Amino acid sequence: MELKITCIPGDGIGPEIVREAKKVLDKVAQSYGHEIKYTDILMGGASIDVHGVPLTEEAVAQAKAADAVLMGSIGGDTTTSPWYKLPPNLRPEAGLLGIRKALNLFANLRPAVLYKELAGACPLKTEISDRGFDMLIMRELTGGLYFGERKTVEENGIRKAIDTLTYDENEIRRIAVKGFDIARKRRKKVTSVDKANVLDSSRLWRSVVEEVAKDYPDVTLEHMLVDNCAMQLVKDPAQFDVILTENMFGDILSDEASMVTGSIGMLASASLNDTKFGLYEPSHGSAPDIAGKDIANPIATILSAAMMLRYSFDLDKEAEAVETAVKEVLKEGYRTVDIMSEGCVQVSCSKMGDLLVERVRK
Ligand code: IPM
Ligand code: MG
Repeated sequence: MELKITCIPGDGIGPEIVREAKKVLDKVAQSYGHEIKYTDILMGGASIDVHGVPLTEEAVAQAKAADAVLMGSIGGDTTTSPWYKLPPNLRPEAGLLGIRKALNLFANLRPAVLYKELAGACPLKTEISDRGFDMLIMRELTGGLYFGERKTVEENGIRKAIDTLTYDENEIRRIAVKGFDIARKRRKKVTSVDKANVLDSSRLWRSVVEEVAKDYPDVTLEHMLVDNCAMQLVKDPAQFDVILTENMFGDILSDEASMVTGSIGMLASASLNDTKFGLYEPSHGSAPDIAGKDIANPIATILSAAMMLRYSFDLDKEAEAVETAVKEVLKEGYRTVDIMSEGCVQVSCSKMGDLLVERVRK
């Protein structure tokens, strides 16, 4: 089949990790008889440098014309990069928020898995890490505090800032449906995370999630307050299957969950709308401090490409071939520096890409 993929190399390590993911995708295409048509667009700092804005309308149109988007990472060092002297709506992150909104990517899937081979990197006590964990954070991505009205005003000489947290029931329902659908394909448990003891938006969240749950009698639903969830993620991560939550809570909890795996360089993500279209990116950032050194870990981006094959193209076998290649490479003891441990062989970003290409088989 023909796969139309728009790539956003972006900033920092973005171009390096996207290059490796393309190599792996090309091998998949060659082995399984597909044809990939790539187009590249600029976003974030790379777009600011050329166009003065982090995302142009042309770039959005090009992304829309594809079947899926593969992204590296955007943004720079917030204390030293000139991008952060610009007004907030012209900074790199505004490009990312802009494309999420423009493409209606309301469902953000962030798996956090403890790989057996990397269990040593898990910062938790071994009695907890020994139980392993495999959770998926389903984060609402186009509503809540991120997209509510915001302003900074001065009243009687006192500066005051206002951010608004809004959700309507339709926004909650559609993400809840995605959460339950995916739970059905996993271990059939949804933990809906909110702050219903304080926030109205959370009380609405909870009641809509309960309505949706009625259509999924085979899936267990539990509610958890966000502060408790932050605690449970380090105390007993094995209890989680799908964590369903709103935008801001999902931002924070997904960073926590990824840190708990000890290997953020391994974690993929997908942002989906209600069609097959999706934007796929690693869960980690642009790591400007190591950009251009060929030492970044490309695996999170490569696993994001695997998610793309599965969710946007229904190519399950091809996705599995990529995931198997990753497991093989780890088992054989190859590591990039971020996941390096004693007795393993340290390899560069591009070498890791080459090793994976060799291991993608039909
Ligand atoms: C993420 C990032 C973004 C977010 C930033 C870069 C705007 O932290 O994808 O989690 O907060 O959503
Ligand atoms: Mg984040």
